[in-house]
Amino acid sequence: MVSYSDSEVKIFHPLCEASLNWALKNLSLEKEYEVLHHQYTGTLEMDYVVRNIHTKKYLCVVEVKRTPADVQSTRYQIQAQSYVQMNEPENEKPFYILTNLEKLISFRYESGKPRVYQQMLLPGLEDVCDFSKDDEKEIIKKLAAIFTRLLDAFRNGKYKYFTTLEQFLAYMNSIVADDKRWKSSMAMLMYEYIRGAFRAVRRTEFKYDVHKFHNDVRQVCIEVNSVDFDGIFAYNSAKYLPRLTMPVSIFADIYKYGNINISGDSIADALHDMISENKRHDGEVATDLELAGLASVLARMSNGPLAAGKRICDPAAGSGSLICSSINVFNAKPNQLQANDSNPKLIEILSLRLGLSFPKIIAKPDVPQVTSEDIINMSKADFNDVDIVLLNPPFVAGINCVNRKVPFYDKIRTLKGSEAMTKVGQMNLGAVFLETVCYLANPGTTIACIFPKAHLTERGEEAIAFRKMLIHLFGLHTIFNYPGEGLFDSVTEETCIFVGKVLQRANDVLVYSSDVKVADIDLHDLQCVAGGYSRTDFMPVFPGVEARLFDWTELNDAVEDGWRMVCSEMGEAIQFIESNINRCTRLTNITKTTKVYRKGRAGVDGGSDLVFFDSIPALYQKYEKYVTLEEGMRNAKSNDFKLKSGDSKFLNFNGVGTHLAAEIAKDYISLARDAKKQQRKVKTASEWETIAKKDGQVKFANNSVLIPTKTRRSGRVHLSNIPLYVSTNFVVFTYPSMCEAEIIASYMTTVFYQLECEVMCKSHAGVRKGEVGDVVTTHVPVFRSISPTDISKIQAEIPNIEFLNLNDPRVSKTDEIWAEILFGPNAKACLDNAQRLLRFLANRRNRCNS
Ligand SMILES: C[S@@+](CC[C@H](N)C(=O)[O-])C[C@H]1O[C@@H](n2cnc3c(N)ncnc32)[C@H](O)[C@@H]1O
Repeated sequence: MVSYSDSEVKIFHPLCEASLNWALKNLSLEKEYEVLHHQYTGTLEMDYVVRNIHTKKYLCVVEVKRTPADVQSTRYQIQAQSYVQMNEPENEKPFYILTNLEKLISFRYESGKPRVYQQMLLPGLEDVCDFSKDDEKEIIKKLAAIFTRLLDAFRNGKYKYFTTLEQFLAYMNSIVADDKRWKSSMAMLMYEYIRGAFRAVRRTEFKYDVHKFHNDVRQVCIEVNSVDFDGIFAYNSAKYLPRLTMPVSIFADIYKYGNINISGDSIADALHDMISENKRHDGEVATDLELAGLASVLARMSNGPLAAGKRICDPAAGSGSLICSSINVFNAKPNQLQANDSNPKLIEILSLRLGLSFPKIIAKPDVPQVTSEDIINMSKADFNDVDIVLLNPPFVAGINCVNRKVPFYDKIRTLKGSEAMTKVGQMNLGAVFLETVCYLANPGTTIACIFPKAHLTERGEEAIAFRKMLIHLFGLHTIFNYPGEGLFDSVTEETCIFVGKVLQRANDVLVYSSDVKVADIDLHDLQCVAGGYSRTDFMPVFPGVEARLFDWTELNDAVEDGWRMVCSEMGEAIQFIESNINRCTRLTNITKTTKVYRKGRAGVDGGSDLVFFDSIPALYQKYEKYVTLEEGMRNAKSNDFKLKSGDSKFLNFNGVGTHLAAEIAKDYISLARDAKKQQRKVKTASEWETIAKKDGQVKFANNSVLIPTKTRRSGRVHLSNIPLYVSTNFVVFTYPSMCEAEIIASYMTTVFYQLECEVMCKSHAGVRKGEVGDVVTTHVPVFRSISPTDISKIQAEIPNIEFLNLNDPRVSKTDEIWAEILFGPNAKACLDNAQRLLRFLANRRNRCNS
């Protein structure tokens, strides 16, 4: 039997392929069309395409998912649509299908109907089979029958659009800003939706068509509220309109929609998208469904079955993807679910979705608890019966949530009696949210939390405080790492899952690392692993997933430096660095080679196009004759190892007369505005002057080595024998002599140094980020230990230095010379290893963006 936790690729895909082939056979089209697995369109991988053998054009794309909720998820529908959109020149027809084998929806892409719900074809969501009754053979047979009908219809233009949601969503969009109208409309419309869904499962509570209530909102609320759905129907005259007239046709459509989409998932998804459209930067992002399933399984592995009377809570539940994924995993009853979100517009969606997760049995008093509170207004009593918290907190960078964090810190102080552990620097809102939840929940509560992975390895004071909170308060016992590929929003922020038990210190922390996409992790296998983990290396525990146990003390000891060791992909490289780089007597920590280092400062407070004076042509041309310009390095784009000049002309305002400086700053304001440069905060001319003067105070002497702070593919390092003003795109180390700077910089271009940077810096959205705090942990040659002969050899190669392509590093003569100097007889082996590991890490880091 197939189950929702089986691997997509191993179990679901072969059944889909067999059904498609069977359908082609039924239509006698095997010689005309072929079924192809995992075809690429751009960098996206499509599960299946049906392709014309002769013209090589696509008849349709088929995307396979695991659960019915996935099929109804707007985001997965958009994913499938994007394949067809990208394929455009190669399409015979623009059809696409989304299926989990049990349910299926077909679509036809049309640029004039840009939303996926406008592209949905009749009959909408189709029932294919039932995993609880049908075996693999039966599934293939039933799916093949539907594919046969669809492929025939696609070829012969026999399709009709299913337009039910269109009018509904357009209407809701038009009233989104009017709270009373929104609530009242939702009550009227969701009455019809729920009536349709109930009718599909043969429930007859709501006999009357909504028109019977003559626009009486309160009466409608009374009818449904006797069953459940408080979030929609708990009438309150302050929040609802007493009566409401609406376009009649919407009701018929929404009833029909509810009748075939019983779960409420797709309507929740579509409305959530609308509500949170402009709030993504505030952390209002729905949890990926696959990830939600994994988090629930990990929570269950930590907690065991849910005891009677105990609850699962998501205190920042959004539209409910995460908490709904726990229902099957825990076999939870309706009243064991507790969902809260501070956005009041989500309460109806949560209420609908949670209630309709139990369409056959939902009835008071056994109903989920749905609230719309700011978490800081919740109390410990709200978490009394909660054994499990599932959490995907709002991620907002510290600098953008300074005021939002204040009440959280106050709340933690009240609950804890002292200051929050996360009250440090520019802490991310998500971390402060998590700490608040830890103090609200009872000691011993299992929390499974989806969180940005960078916090495992970063060295900033915020990440250190966060890690301390994880091991001392959160009770961290499991970390699950997975590739960012295939998940929504993965490109901006790679995440992982932490599982802990509040205030219960674990002796060991188990770290899983998956090489396969989250969708392909076999959740059965995961739950069946019965110990036997290695303490020294990551070892496979089932196909595609490795695990390793770490002593709690090991993580505690490394809390300041970061937990690179828990990223299994780093394991071999860390070992390589420890045995070959850290122990090599001819290499030393870079801070022992010079005390003169800092990050470039030009532009740190904005205005880099003012100080790098040739950025705005009109400003430059007007004043060029009246000012003395110096060399500046603004962008990390040059391919020259040795810089004979900067890439920009820098204007040091400290050397410009008062009158002229004021004039330039004034012109800059109007020209920068004309050039459409968005200034977040408008500054006056004199403020710009002050900023520019500060930038002019930091000039780097010659004999400097410039290391870019952001690196994607090219292992750039620059050597400068002229004085320079440098932007924040570089960290700069200055040496007493040109010769010493040349030797150090030459080494930095090698596979050895670039590999160490891959390990020691952090990876974010495909970019290697190396701030001063990261670069100071790296190692470079001890200059005086290099013989004059070796120095000559190195210098002779300097004109030939080309930067490494990190994704495909080629060993250069400079690499060979350094390997020989540093590792003697082991030179070749060390070079081969460093090259291999560098390639592996760089491709892993930026494969999502390649
Ligand atoms: C990443 S989303 C959660 C997604 C959700 N778990 C799901 O399954 O789709 C974060 C949520 O936190 C909510 N939120 C932000 N601040 C909050 C607060 N102070 N109290 C409660 N919820 C909050 C946002 O409205 C947003 O829906």
